[in-house]
Amino acid sequence: MSDIQSFRQSVEAFIASRGWTPTRFGRAIAGDPLFVFDLREGREPRSETRQRILRAMQDMAETGDTAPLRIGVAGLGNVGATLVRILQKDGDILARKLGRRLVVTAVAARSRSRDRGIDTADITWFDDPVALAKSDGIDLFVELIGGEDGPALASVKAALELGRPVVTANKALLARHGVALARVAEESGAQLGFEAAVAGGIPVIKTLREGLGSARIARVYGIMNGTCNYILTRMGNEGISFAECLKDAQALGYAEADPSFDVEGYDTAHKLAILASLCFGCEIAPDEILVEGITGITQADIKVAADLGYRIKLLGIAQRSPEGIEQRVHPTLVPRSSAIAGVDGVLNAIALETDHVHELLLAGPGAGGPPTASSVLSDILDIARGTRVPPLGVPSHELTPYRRAPMRAHEGGYYIRLNAKDVPGALAAIASRMGESGISLESVIQRPDLQVTAEEGGGAGTRTVILLTHSTFEAVVRETIARIAGDGFTVGEPQLIRIEAL
Ligand SMILES: NC(=O)c1ccc[n+]([C@@H]2O[C@H](COP(=O)([O-])OP(=O)(O)OC[C@H]3O[C@@H](n4cnc5c(N)ncnc54)[C@H](OP(=O)(O)O)[C@@H]3O)[C@@H](O)[C@H]2O)c1
Repeated sequence: MSDIQSFRQSVEAFIASRGWTPTRFGRAIAGDPLFVFDLREGREPRSETRQRILRAMQDMAETGDTAPLRIGVAGLGNVGATLVRILQKDGDILARKLGRRLVVTAVAARSRSRDRGIDTADITWFDDPVALAKSDGIDLFVELIGGEDGPALASVKAALELGRPVVTANKALLARHGVALARVAEESGAQLGFEAAVAGGIPVIKTLREGLGSARIARVYGIMNGTCNYILTRMGNEGISFAECLKDAQALGYAEADPSFDVEGYDTAHKLAILASLCFGCEIAPDEILVEGITGITQADIKVAADLGYRIKLLGIAQRSPEGIEQRVHPTLVPRSSAIAGVDGVLNAIALETDHVHELLLAGPGAGGPPTASSVLSDILDIARGTRVPPLGVPSHELTPYRRAPMRAHEGGYYIRLNAKDVPGALAAIASRMGESGISLESVIQRPDLQVTAEEGGGAGTRTVILLTHSTFEAVVRETIARIAGDGFTVGEPQLIRIEAL
């Protein structure tokens, strides 16, 4: 390696290990704020300049660089205020661990007067998150505002463009702009941490970026939304309806006043899109996901699934197939004996199926102030220690374009619940349509005891019929159901739930 190459490496390592921005290095060590930028663009400083800078770096290392890492936090809600509280309360412990202090020097939120239970006496207040992101008074920017555009995007971009490290918990932002932001970060040499964006307190991003670096992942699946898991768990345990469970989840603060983003599956889809990119080295593709929520799941489905040895979970699943990558979010029948079936309540779990370590299941709290803030903090510690990894696991120019495997080609088992008219020949007609399509049935069950209401597509004069198929193609199942509907022996919409082989 030439002298100049080794000099460049020393400078970059110094900046990374302290979480400094290039400008700070330029000012404090080189006496020129643009020094690092010029160096990155190919400028070759003279030998005397290099020696002077190397000596200054060495002096700082020897005298012990105890300058604190100055953190700016934009967003002081559930997660942001908790993070500031932890940094203030555990400051001494963290300083001993790191060998330097982590200090919140600036914050931004909308309301200056709201009591957030944190001491803001020595903290500079910004009304504008972008101004905070660009401020010279911070070394690292934390975005905890939320939203895929607006101030969250503008502030994260501004910090990265300056070469300033960023930590965010914002899945919507990452799902929509993750690749573009990773590019900006790589160009400016900044780090971008987003552990908290997927499954709150579970360290799945670190596991994928660092722990499983060389493993080839075949499938990733998991429970990524605590609200949905809470509702499905209570429906299963207590025999109450979706609507009742949702009301309780809202009263307990597990569900938003407008719960549609969670219960319709979009929150899970954002997280899945980020995971799929990290697992398969492809671009993030949130609009290519099949998304079905849990609003149509009835007590009849929960009961029959249980009787057949299954539980119903809202899963996000991404897997390789010969046609490309399949990304889907939908209620799923999982065998009761599977590990994921036992993950209940607001907990999340993510399973990674790899060639080397087979299946890895990470389970834990997927949301809430403390678990999420703890993941944000783990990114901050990594950056303070100088850990450098491309944001999406591989350099962004190595990401392959996303190739969607068509859902029609999906192969698996299906649970089909039909409201068959209570007339002679109805069941025989249904079975015969299945046979014509070559669909092999594992069970056919009539459950007159299960009352499916008129709103749920049933009602007087109908019988609940459940068909469980062996593995077949989605296209074949859908065409067959359409034919059955055309025969006039059923009423209302059929219920179709995919079964996942685990
Ligand atoms: N909560 C969780 O359990 C959880 C879990 C995983 C990830 N996340 C992610 O973490 C992020 C934060 O979530 P949260 O639950 O903490 O949200 P939150 O409680 O709604 O807090 C949002 C904060 O952003 C501030 N804010 C909003 N617009 C602003 C603007 N234009 N300028 C300055 N500040 C602004 C708000 O200020 P005011 O307080 O003054 O209104 C508030 O402090 C989101 O991306 C979320 O998806 C949250």
